[in-house]
Amino acid sequence: MIEQYTSKKNKICVVGLGYVGLPVALEFARKFSVVGYDINARRVAMMQKAIDPSNELDPAEFEGCDIIFTANPDEIRTCTFFVVAVPTPINEHKNPDLKPLLSACKIVGQALKKGDVAVFESTVYPGCTEEDCVPVLERESGLVFGKDFTVGYSPERINPGDKLHTLTKITKVVSGSDAKTLALVSELYDAIVTAGVHEASSIKVAEASKIIENTQRDLNIALMNELSLIFKKMDINTYEVLEAAGTKWNFLKFSPGLVGGHCIGVDPYYLTHKAMELGYFARVITAGRNINDAVHTQIAKEIVQYLIDQDKSLKQTKVLVMGVTFKENVSDIRNSKVPELIRELQEFKINIDAVDPYADKEEFEHEYGIVLKSTPGQGYDAVVLAVNHEDYLGYDEDYFKKLMGKSGLLYDVKGIFRDRIHEMAYLSL
Ligand SMILES: NC(=O)c1ccc[n+]([C@@H]2O[C@H](COP(=O)([O-])OP(=O)(O)OC[C@H]3O[C@@H](n4cnc5c(N)ncnc54)[C@H](O)[C@@H]3O)[C@@H](O)[C@H]2O)c1
Repeated sequence: MIEQYTSKKNKICVVGLGYVGLPVALEFARKFSVVGYDINARRVAMMQKAIDPSNELDPAEFEGCDIIFTANPDEIRTCTFFVVAVPTPINEHKNPDLKPLLSACKIVGQALKKGDVAVFESTVYPGCTEEDCVPVLERESGLVFGKDFTVGYSPERINPGDKLHTLTKITKVVSGSDAKTLALVSELYDAIVTAGVHEASSIKVAEASKIIENTQRDLNIALMNELSLIFKKMDINTYEVLEAAGTKWNFLKFSPGLVGGHCIGVDPYYLTHKAMELGYFARVITAGRNINDAVHTQIAKEIVQYLIDQDKSLKQTKVLVMGVTFKENVSDIRNSKVPELIRELQEFKINIDAVDPYADKEEFEHEYGIVLKSTPGQGYDAVVLAVNHEDYLGYDEDYFKKLMGKSGLLYDVKGIFRDRIHEMAYLSL
């Protein structure tokens, strides 16, 4: 079935070339002929020079690929198999914002021909592909779904910054709107994913499988964050408790933390939104979200409490925040909770310096209006180690003493220095 693609008579188009779309496009382009389309001409110009705008892939990964990068929608019309990997964010009310997805459907719809297939990789709620995307594809193409064209869904499961679990090494869940489409989607992905494919029984099942992966992680982290709140009242270090409990074979290894990024902190809202539409209020998932969304306020509260206990006038205090990305060892700042923590501290008139070895300074300032320093200064009243970048792991108490003197507070969000700080004030989640 994929002969038409192997012979390069038929072409694959990947729409949206970000963290997800670019690796998929390049992997397909090692075997097949690919057109990579992105709405952002600046990003396209970088990819044309073998630069990954998301900083995840080396230029070598572009070598030997049969791919053209374009921001011109006319150039995707020669393709017959479309893969959509555009963002699926939430709006200010924490409801799904389908604008990028539906605008990608519009572009694909205008390129669709009889016999074509459109596969969605963006994370969505169950039902979105068939109920929200298909009508746009039909309207724009003037074709009939199921008769003239079909659709599939294959969720992406990569983990930003993870060099071990890459696209080809993770079993790919695939689905199709009919058996023939499923067979094609399955064969094409199987050709690039070494770990193989798992054929879901329907598109909705595939959509639901992805959304629960991140919902499960979110809830497990929420449990850890709640335990941290409880253990603080008992004067117990949560990380020490987790270390002890983790010696049992079936204890799940989760830890407390700031839940940012555009997956774990966002995807559960897609599920709760759909559940609500169907008349069910998702109590457990919502409770977890509320706990995780409030972690930065708890951290700010503890820092303010410490400074007040030291008889400091908050206006005169200076706090250094180390790490602003949404997680360790990545440059991705989307939906990072650290800017919210900074704002929370600024509300108390505390002066803030922030540094990060991975984040792009211009992008961060543009996105959050916060100017990052290149290197830390001195004379801080507290240092918040907000993200455990590997660059920070080798530091010791002397390093923090140089930043703050002996009387400062180290707030070590992820508890990585808990055995190494003896003289200074120390807090963690
Ligand atoms: N990043 C991850 O690790 C990850 C993992 C699993 C699933 N996902 C899901 O995959 C989807 C894509 O996420 P991402 O991280 O790759 O996003 P991203 O922001 O890195 O990239 C999206 C790309 O799509 C482009 N784009 C936006 N609207 C477009 C349009 N209408 N037409 C064409 N291009 C358009 C943007 O310019 C950008 O280059 C989301 O649904 C996300 O939830 C992401």
